[in-house]
Amino acid sequence: MRIIKAENYQDMSRKAANIISAQMIMKPDSVLGLATGSSPVGIYEQLVEWYKKGDLDFSKITTVNLDEYKGLNRENDQSYYYFMHQHLFDHVNVRPECTHVPDGMEADSQKECKRYEGLVDSLGGADLQLLGLGHNGHIGFNEPAPVFEKATHCVDLTESTIEANKRFFASADEVPKQAYTMGIGTIMKAKKILVVVSGEDKAEIVAKAFYGEVTPEVPASILQMHQDVTVVADKAALSKL
Ligand code: F6R
Repeated sequence: MRIIKAENYQDMSRKAANIISAQMIMKPDSVLGLATGSSPVGIYEQLVEWYKKGDLDFSKITTVNLDEYKGLNRENDQSYYYFMHQHLFDHVNVRPECTHVPDGMEADSQKECKRYEGLVDSLGGADLQLLGLGHNGHIGFNEPAPVFEKATHCVDLTESTIEANKRFFASADEVPKQAYTMGIGTIMKAKKILVVVSGEDKAEIVAKAFYGEVTPEVPASILQMHQDVTVVADKAALSKL
């Protein structure tokens, strides 16, 4: 695991965007695993800027997103489908049919999870998977649990995740209670993993996840077992190491 120290959020975003951009240049038909949330927003802004300057080409890229709320339709501005279009897909030349987000409107969890896992498998896993880190150590929506959940599955979100996400909704009651997420096994199939973390409020979990015991109670700790992980974190997030 490589840990790259950034000055602040902006510097973290630029460094991480450079890594993604290098991946796209080295392999123009890369499968990029993407994340939502506040951590990657600056990265997407940077990638869009470079695309507009003519420095990046998404025409052969395929994307697979980590997760989606169950029960939110694509037009809902809190769905991850909407987020990805708003921050990236609508601004670059990625082919819409090559962008994949779990279908939150599929009511049959088993069916959707099987379909999505099969899709990621058929693409050979992500060439580069981008991840944010939850305050409780979650990656995707893989919450602390007694065992690592391997494949794409439907999760009941924890109180702490609902609490963290309610800032995006009118009230905590409106935050969906379930989500579809790639499993730990799906994520670990990625050839390379890039984790971005910013802010002092993540310092404790950064120390636990990357230097502590590998346990499903801290889902991100499994990344210590992956052969090619790069963490780009700002000073504040690294302050407890
Ligand atoms: C997003 C995702 C989540 C976030 C995590 C951190 O697709 O799967 O695991 O990466 O909750 O969120 P932020 O970046 O908002 O702190």
